[in-house]
Amino acid sequence: MKRLIAALIVVAAIAVPIAVVVGATAPAAGPQEVTLPAPDTQGGMSLNEALARRRSIRGFDAKALDQQQLGQLLWATQGITDPPTGHRAAPSAMAVYPLTVYVCTADGVFTYEPKGHKLVRVSTEDRRADVTQPPRGGQPAPVSIVFTGDPSKFGSRSPDRAAAFVYLEVGHAAENLALEATALGLATVPQGGIDAAKVSEALNLPEGTMVVYTMPVGYPVAR
Ligand SMILES: Cc1cc2nc3c(=O)[nH]c(=O)nc-3n(C[C@H](O)[C@H](O)[C@H](O)COP(=O)(O)O)c2cc1C
Repeated sequence: MKRLIAALIVVAAIAVPIAVVVGATAPAAGPQEVTLPAPDTQGGMSLNEALARRRSIRGFDAKALDQQQLGQLLWATQGITDPPTGHRAAPSAMAVYPLTVYVCTADGVFTYEPKGHKLVRVSTEDRRADVTQPPRGGQPAPVSIVFTGDPSKFGSRSPDRAAAFVYLEVGHAAENLALEATALGLATVPQGGIDAAKVSEALNLPEGTMVVYTMPVGYPVAR
């Protein structure tokens, strides 16, 4: 019996520090993929009302967005609207689709994958402060959406226009996001004045990736 107790004490003495170290350095990773709810493709605020209401809003409430809201926002941004061809809500030069949209939350960083309408985790770290301008009033927005593009995806088809196409496509997608946020009663602002090198490092982006915009999205701070 004494031997058994001694053995248990030794096991506990080794196991407890290991558990503490693992807990401190490896937080619960969460799911690697999150399939988003199907978007509403019919209803919502009218286009004209959304156009009339859209404003850049820079003060946010900390309240989280739910998956339905996030899915709706991302569908408007880059979601597939014609499954047979894979064409999306925003147009793309020669249907090349060079954009990758990163979704930064308190739970980590994800990419939005139009095929499957899902989030794919790339990190468990909260990078919102690294990719977003400081909020003016209120709290950091619960979600920051970063627009990136890979001009090399145009290959030899249009190398001299590839970077321009990425900028133009981000403009289309970002306006879709702004209008959808407005239609959902949410606040956002397109931030072009971000530090692209800092964003690239925070998101560990592949060489050659263009960083164009960050758009924080959340509830407007109560005035
Ligand atoms: C290319 C571009 C870059 C912008 N960059 C920033 C930015 O870095 N930070 C910011 O707070 N707003 C930024 N804005 C938002 C503008 O300040 C805003 O659109 C303008 O004041 C007009 O206001 P409205 O969007 O409410 O109509 C940017 C807008 C555009 C089109």
